[in-house]
Amino acid sequence: MTRTQVAPVLVTGATGRVGRAVVDLLIDAGVPVRALTHRSEAAAALPPNVEVVTGDLTVPESLDAGLRGVGAVFLVWTAPPETAPAVVERLATHARRVVFLSSPHQTPHPFFQQPNPMAVLHADIERLIAAAGLEFTIIRPGIFASNTLFWWAPAIRAGGVVRWPYGAAETAPVDDRDVAAVAARTLYEDGHAGRDYVLTGPESLSQAEQVSIIGEVLGRRISFQELSPDEFRSETEGGWPRPVVDMLLAAWGATMGRPAFITSAVSDILGTPPRPFRQWVADNATAFADSATAFTEGPTPRG
Ligand SMILES: NC(=O)c1ccc[n+]([C@@H]2O[C@H](COP(=O)([O-])OP(=O)(O)OC[C@H]3O[C@@H](n4cnc5c(N)ncnc54)[C@H](OP(=O)(O)O)[C@@H]3O)[C@@H](O)[C@H]2O)c1
Repeated sequence: MTRTQVAPVLVTGATGRVGRAVVDLLIDAGVPVRALTHRSEAAAALPPNVEVVTGDLTVPESLDAGLRGVGAVFLVWTAPPETAPAVVERLATHARRVVFLSSPHQTPHPFFQQPNPMAVLHADIERLIAAAGLEFTIIRPGIFASNTLFWWAPAIRAGGVVRWPYGAAETAPVDDRDVAAVAARTLYEDGHAGRDYVLTGPESLSQAEQVSIIGEVLGRRISFQELSPDEFRSETEGGWPRPVVDMLLAAWGATMGRPAFITSAVSDILGTPPRPFRQWVADNATAFADSATAFTEGPTPRG
């Protein structure tokens, strides 16, 4: 495959988990980057050699300045759905191609086939992108390894027990850096138009095994206490939106007794295997071990 990208890439979600890594990878590849944030103060989190533009996905016209002259857009949708049609219309006016961070909602594995408002939104945006005539690539990661920072790190840092439902439910956590690497590659390399890639980690691990791996990396045993779905609902009441809780419970419950769905897409596209969960933990160990690190806000719902 050859590289043809010359016009800047507008990276949305540029201060987020995947987008921030995409920004670095595009710069490393010599691709001009425009990084979008809807909070001007967030610019400080971006590298100094990146053009930062402000724009809000909920205010479509605010994106015009950032879109002028771009060749491609990395689209991360973290806003309510209402403005998606107007935003996609604007993308199509300015850009030739879009790489969209979606989810594996078409994958026929029970984990991905449960009621899921996020998947409905992703499917709607994919339809809008196709109808707008944009050249597109859809990136469909499974569950992120980094969710564990929000789910379990507060309890682990406090030296406590991880209280969680469906300890035996298996997933294949994917490293955000692998998701970002695939996204970046599809933004600057030809040959990915019209493709969609389901990205997973390399191994099927139960949630209890994932907690054990964190303990092994930290050098201490972490207890796992199984909660019933109703206990989990009560424990997250008031802190997590109920639809997120129900979505996760349905997915974990449906996958009980089955290995997680695993693909070779990361290796196929990057030529290197996806990073194992243990490596992700080792590279993020301070977030579990040290209460002075960044993830101090408690178990924010991320799924
Ligand atoms: N977690 C998982 O397991 C998982 C799995 C598959 C797919 N996904 C999908 O991944 C996406 C989230 O990616 P992520 O985790 O990298 O994001 P993230 O870390 O949650 O960051 C959210 C980003 O969205 C930006 N943002 C928020 N509101 C905005 C607005 N109104 N206008 C413009 N930008 C806005 C934020 O930027 P500023 O605040 O700087 O503006 C930030 O960069 C979601 O679509 C999710 O469904 C997640």
